[in-house]
Amino acid sequence: MEAIRYELIKKDERTGARLGKLHTPHGTIDTPVFMPVGTQATVKAMTPDELKSIGAQIILSNTYHLYLRPGEKLVEKAGGLHNFMNWDRAILTDSGGFQVFSLSELRDIKEEGVTFKSHIDGSKHFISPEKAIEIENALGADIIMAFDECPPYPADYDYTKNSLYRTIRWAERCKKTHKNTEKQALFGIIQGGMFKDLRQEAVKEMIKLDFPGYSVGGLSIGEPKPIMYDVLDWTTPLMPEDKPRYLMGVGSPDCLIEGVIRGIDMFDCVLQTRIARNGTVFTSKGKLVVRNAEYAEDFRPLDEECDCYTCRNYSRAYIRHLLKAQEILGARLTTIHNLRFTIRLMEKIREAIMQDSLLEFRDEFYAKFGYNNN
Ligand code: GUN
Ligand code: ZN
Repeated sequence: MEAIRYELIKKDERTGARLGKLHTPHGTIDTPVFMPVGTQATVKAMTPDELKSIGAQIILSNTYHLYLRPGEKLVEKAGGLHNFMNWDRAILTDSGGFQVFSLSELRDIKEEGVTFKSHIDGSKHFISPEKAIEIENALGADIIMAFDECPPYPADYDYTKNSLYRTIRWAERCKKTHKNTEKQALFGIIQGGMFKDLRQEAVKEMIKLDFPGYSVGGLSIGEPKPIMYDVLDWTTPLMPEDKPRYLMGVGSPDCLIEGVIRGIDMFDCVLQTRIARNGTVFTSKGKLVVRNAEYAEDFRPLDEECDCYTCRNYSRAYIRHLLKAQEILGARLTTIHNLRFTIRLMEKIREAIMQDSLLEFRDEFYAKFGYNNN
């Protein structure tokens, strides 16, 4: 028995959108779903109880960070990541592939694996597909990701092609190493850059390996949004219907809607929590920089339509004051809001799919929130 099972509830007739349930060892997740990012075994500024109260069903954590600090052995001794961080709902760990390329210095990519220097203390490390799976097995998340290479944007055709075939060979090695399939589901990652034939090749080869789920990687790395939407249009129609599809590192409210329309079931993004700490929030009328002077005497909530704890109890003026005074509560309140806004957006998207009104929902959302292609 596989650790997870995807149950397709309904397909939208006018778009690629799907309504589903993802059954995991730590509960059933309604999809499409947004996964808050808890890089270092914590969603920054949030307790697990608070995450539950805003409706989070699954969170993401990072192999790269937890391997470097505190070390996967320690997490294993604590009884695994769920126990260590006191989170009893589902967890997905990214493999470290992406973080090695985006965070560490001096990396050297070989067929065997990647040598890199820690962004924390400069120490030298080596991660191979086998090592990544060993670490992810020790962490014990419900869904684990294969070790991949995410080529930079832009990257030329030949580099992207070689890299995608290596990612496929690495995925094969990950699959061979991963024995704990009843407790942890291993997902394959589809690369192929911004090239149509390479993306199609990547899907075809990856699904031959028969993973319980697949992600689309290598997107939201600086390319214009229309290119990302094109890549999804080429990719998702070739992905199996009976397995979950995860778009890695995406995204902003408009990208979530566009991803769902193109058949994506799972998303994660640091944007919501990161901009919250800098004093920027999403509202139904678009982004709001609550740090700005214009909100100094604005006693309305961040978003008049939001049902979160922050919006039910605090004003823009108070939150701006907290942020200006560098009070910890400021970042906590904006984080609660941004995550609840995003999780509520996914709830509305699921309702719209159920009611056959996703395209109307999209148009109404953009009419108020605004739309840009950057
Ligand atoms: N997170 C965002 N994009 C990627 C990707 O391409 N690969 C991995 N492993 N993680 C990601
Ligand atoms: Zn709110």
